[in-house]
Amino acid sequence: MVRAEEDTLTHLWQRRHLLSLADFQPWEYDTVLQVAASFEAVLSRRTKKVPALQGKVVAVLFFESSTRTRGSFELAAKRLSADTLNFSAGTSSLTKGETILDTAKTLVAMGTDLMVIRHQQAGVPDLIAEEMDRSHTGVGVLNAGDGQHAHPTQALLDLFTMCTVLDPEAPRLEVLQGKKVAIVGDVRHSRVARSNLHSLLAAGAEVHLAGPPTLVPEGFTELGAQVHWSLEPALRDADFVMALRLQQERMAGHFIPSLREYHQQFGITRERLALCKPAVRLLHPGPTNRGVELTSDVMDDPHLSLVSRQVTSGVAVRMAVLYLLAGGASERPAVMR
Ligand code: NCD
Repeated sequence: MVRAEEDTLTHLWQRRHLLSLADFQPWEYDTVLQVAASFEAVLSRRTKKVPALQGKVVAVLFFESSTRTRGSFELAAKRLSADTLNFSAGTSSLTKGETILDTAKTLVAMGTDLMVIRHQQAGVPDLIAEEMDRSHTGVGVLNAGDGQHAHPTQALLDLFTMCTVLDPEAPRLEVLQGKKVAIVGDVRHSRVARSNLHSLLAAGAEVHLAGPPTLVPEGFTELGAQVHWSLEPALRDADFVMALRLQQERMAGHFIPSLREYHQQFGITRERLALCKPAVRLLHPGPTNRGVELTSDVMDDPHLSLVSRQVTSGVAVRMAVLYLLAGGASERPAVMR
């Protein structure tokens, strides 16, 4: 990557919060991809830490279970030399009746600069971001997944993973132009699918959604995706297949007859992947339910599966986002390479 080129884009960055990708511009995607590539290079060095966010405080507030997202946000903040404040809903003063906004204000009073929030209810990160702006705190809010609404950093790390497969030297949006991406499974309850739709369509990819009609509503065609209620048309000649977990914790009724039947119709297997392009790669945001949305055989095949690579990319991508939202360009460290 050319350093000067990266500087130009980084300096244009204005965004203080990352709440959704709905209004993300192509150059913003490219900036995240470029900065993430720089940080990925840092993470492959012997000394994996840079002083970019030294003295800054990153609070990680999770009101919902998580392994990957929480762990990688925390590690990303630490690799940037920020101090981290970890907060779990079950062991906080929320259990004593404090509101979420008062909890957020408490964290601001401790000197928090960036707040990473996951909540089961859509709109909570937006609400906190509004409050941060209203009270002129200058605190940046990152949505780490809110209800079924959005999970922007997951889509950004998926984008980074796909773009680096296509061009490891210079991951950028345009390499996905015209590629076919099949997203299979519980699209209805998936914030990951919604955020990926924004980034993939911005890249000019062809997005095909597949699953039972109860889990893949026809309305998604209005957003620009193609909807299939059988697997074959989605998989045929696909460049990437993204399997999604059945989000049973978000299902209020009976959306599928049984897990076995779902697997028989929509499970990703080696035989079914033969319909795709020969170089097809498989993604899954995790957590996976082996034997339901995909077989262990395909998930554990390193030539096929990008699942571990997604997790690895997650740290570099979240470092990039934290760095940019903290006003990276204005306090540019001399350590980016
Ligand atoms: C996803 C989530 O929580 O939205 N996982 C993740 O963040 N890696 C998807 C899921 O829960 O199935």
